[in-house]
Amino acid sequence: MSKKKLVFSGVQPTGNLHLGNYLGALKNFVSLQNEMECIYCVVDLHAITTFQKPDELQNNVLETVASFLATGLDPNKSIIFNQSSVSGHTELAWILNCVSRIGWLNRMTQFKDKAGSDKEKASVGLYIYPNLMAADILLYKATHVPVGADQKQHLELSRDIAQKFNNDFNCKDFFPIPEPLIPKNVSRVMSLRDGTKKMSKSEESDFSRINLKDSADEIIKKIKKAKSDSEPIPENLKNLEKKPEALNLLNIYSEVTKKSLETVLNEVSGKEYSFLKTKLSEILIGEIEPIGKEIKKLLNNKDHLKQILKKGREKANNIAEENLKNIREKVGLL
Ligand code: TYM
Repeated sequence: MSKKKLVFSGVQPTGNLHLGNYLGALKNFVSLQNEMECIYCVVDLHAITTFQKPDELQNNVLETVASFLATGLDPNKSIIFNQSSVSGHTELAWILNCVSRIGWLNRMTQFKDKAGSDKEKASVGLYIYPNLMAADILLYKATHVPVGADQKQHLELSRDIAQKFNNDFNCKDFFPIPEPLIPKNVSRVMSLRDGTKKMSKSEESDFSRINLKDSADEIIKKIKKAKSDSEPIPENLKNLEKKPEALNLLNIYSEVTKKSLETVLNEVSGKEYSFLKTKLSEILIGEIEPIGKEIKKLLNNKDHLKQILKKGREKANNIAEENLKNIREKVGLL
């Protein structure tokens, strides 16, 4: 049976979006909106699994919407809304809490990373977060989910939950099994300070990431300070295996210039990393600086951003309510 294709993805409003979010997710969101029906959600309920200051959270939601628009999402093509405005997410999350297994959640590496050494003190929300993520996707019966590689395990859990629901309630094909869409080249943009860690909003040093709102000067400084290697750039990839920071810079350059890594290596091998860094700064400024300026401009008109969320909420809620009726019926809720 051929199902209608529908894209869903979410981004947490926890402060500055960065180059990892952009190359791993947002860029893909934009190209997909011309191919399929797309729903993009600012996942504020996910954000509060770790404490957020209420007034900052509100601003961060609007800033995430501004970032969506500045990178090229068009509210006339894609549905853009915030998660807490459609109550179906939490209702379905509860139902899926009863389908998902504790053993499955215990395997989630992101919980282990985020909860740190004292798991007893982590919120229950942080632990069951992947079930809410499954609810986000399944509420719309999404078929495709663009994400960075760090979300792969959560996506696999969503697939397991969809499968188990379909089996438990004897409704084969009720929930489509969602396909992850993970970029091939830079599925994981790494920290500029430590190439074994992903670039992340929660990393303490701002020098570890390029934020979408960074000025040209900041980009130049951060790339200049980024860890690389004291030896010249090698000719082949094999020699970069133990040099994750250097490989990360080359990967970013390759992705933004849309040249294969092999082509890039042909271009720069034998040169010092300072040569690559100058070129990388230039192309990043060309790509990121206009986005940052646009975000700042859009944030001057918060009413406009709220209006976009309101319209998106109506559209999302209509789909969600229709699907929820059928979900309640399958589960046997009156
Ligand atoms: P979040 O808010 O951490 O990140 C948003 C998107 O950016 C991608 N990403 C990266 N990609 C490459 N390299 C990086 N360093 C990097 N850092 C972040 C993430 O993979 C993600 O695609 N749980 C999700 C949000 C979510 C969601 C959903 C996603 C909630 N419900 C349903 C898809 C479908 C998260 O915390 O993403």
